[in-house]
Amino acid sequence: MNIVVRYCSKTPFGNTRRIAEAIAEGVGVQAVSIADEPKLNEKADIFFLGGAPYANIMAPELREYANNIDPSMVSKVVLFTTSNWSRRTVLALKKTLKSKGISVCEEYFFAHMLKIDEKIEEARAFGQRMAKRKLPTRSYFI
Ligand SMILES: Cc1cc2nc3c(=O)[nH]c(=O)nc-3n(C[C@H](O)[C@H](O)[C@H](O)COP(=O)(O)O)c2cc1C
Repeated sequence: MNIVVRYCSKTPFGNTRRIAEAIAEGVGVQAVSIADEPKLNEKADIFFLGGAPYANIMAPELREYANNIDPSMVSKVVLFTTSNWSRRTVLALKKTLKSKGISVCEEYFFAHMLKIDEKIEEARAFGQRMAKRKLPTRSYFI
């Protein structure tokens, strides 16, 4: 099973990057910034994707990244976000991805921007738990 973790992180604090790295550590893979890899270039059974809101909207490059994801490359997306209060990034990403026919896990990870240190262990455990979760199987009528 191939699991990838991608994120968009803009402030010098790197809040979303730190959560992405913790999730990736839990999974046992490397987190990669979309600034370093602007297009998903490998198939993902589970695709962790995270970002943050800036003035109430996600970074334009994250929006573009999500819009350009090839649905045939991704089986399931798990979202994460950091912010002061808003979960808007998760909601907006979910809407975009679902409209492309990509399956998005209802559960997501949120860390408040001032509580990143406290959330690292939880993010690690989240990655581990979501990676172990069985993918939904298709059912067929016969
Ligand atoms: C210019 C700017 C605008 C922001 N606007 C919002 C906002 O509208 N709502 C919110 O909840 N947080 C807002 N935040 C907080 C960021 O979403 C939060 O610090 C986030 O953790 C940043 O992630 P990053 O360090 O990975 O870039 C803003 C932060 C900055 C710097």
